[in-house]
Amino acid sequence: MALIGSPRKNGATMGLLRCFMDQWETRGGGREDVTVINAYQPALKPCIHCGYCKQNRGCVYQDFEPIDRSLRKADLLVIASPVYGLGFPAPLKAVFDRTQQYFEAKRSLGIPNPIEKHKPALFLAAFGSPQPRGLDLMEEQIRLAGLLVNAALEHTIIAAHTDRLPVHWARVGDQIARALQDIKAAWEYSGAAE
Ligand SMILES: Cc1cc2nc3c(=O)[nH]c(=O)nc-3n(C[C@H](O)[C@H](O)[C@H](O)COP(=O)(O)O)c2cc1C
Repeated sequence: MALIGSPRKNGATMGLLRCFMDQWETRGGGREDVTVINAYQPALKPCIHCGYCKQNRGCVYQDFEPIDRSLRKADLLVIASPVYGLGFPAPLKAVFDRTQQYFEAKRSLGIPNPIEKHKPALFLAAFGSPQPRGLDLMEEQIRLAGLLVNAALEHTIIAAHTDRLPVHWARVGDQIARALQDIKAAWEYSGAAE
């Protein structure tokens, strides 16, 4: 599944996603196998720390359910986002905050693994400025949410200076290709080990 954090159809983030899709297809994947969810369409309600998920599975708000269903099915989690103010745009941050329901499923309800399927995560990031300031914390946020949704951040690919320079798509494509190669090799290895 691919979780998108940009409102712009023709921005760098959607370009990174297109680049991923091309490489995915080149390696035998189908476009239809990738569920794309844009955090802006529609934006989720933010977590209100109401405590519902301490006593019940899921969330008091129903709007997370499509994301929950996709997280359960996904073999790979792609997060594609620009940096806004050194972090994630608010609608994507809301998605991360809503994974608190899995934290409480573990801690309060004693469910060890609320999302059973383990998956690698790939972060595609667009930075307007030349230096990717904020990247470390964004990666930490993905790792934290990843612990809750059983996803491990394995690769980060950056398009920097997007406000001034065109993205070097060939370079980005090569980086995505290498990341997918690693991920597929790990799948084959674990498939062979089963
Ligand atoms: C509200 C807002 C905040 C931003 N904050 C940062 C920032 O902290 N650091 C940075 O490098 N770029 C920042 N940018 C620039 C975007 O990251 C850059 O334009 C990026 O390409 C936007 O993604 P998009 O092209 O997919 O829309 C910001 C842009 C906006 C609109």
